[in-house]
Amino acid sequence: MPKINFVKEKVIVDAADGDNIRSIARQNGVQLYSGPHKVFNCMGFGHCGSCNVIVKKGSENCSRKGILESLWKWAHPLLGLKILSNEGKDVRLACQAKVHGDVEIDTHPPINWHGNKFWG
Ligand code: FES
Repeated sequence: MPKINFVKEKVIVDAADGDNIRSIARQNGVQLYSGPHKVFNCMGFGHCGSCNVIVKKGSENCSRKGILESLWKWAHPLLGLKILSNEGKDVRLACQAKVHGDVEIDTHPPINWHGNKFWG
């Protein structure tokens, strides 16, 4: 049974194999959304990008990125917003990432508006 550690919230919970991170967070009172996204989000359909989290440990225990997450990766550079491209960090959409083993999750990753190499 996978253990999910929401580091900032200091919440460690058990999950069923194949649960997605969003549903585990919601069931255990962990807020994934900021600001207006608490109300206005796509409800887990992978369209809004507001449920992004960083997988600090256990990336290998998460499902592979699907087409929706891949589209976000390509769409953000085109829009000039590299929110999901924190280089060196495994940023996932919580609603799309399924867990198959222990993971550590950082909610509310900082927004990387320009990418790490924009100014230098
Ligand atoms: S809830 Fe919208 S992308 Fe996950």
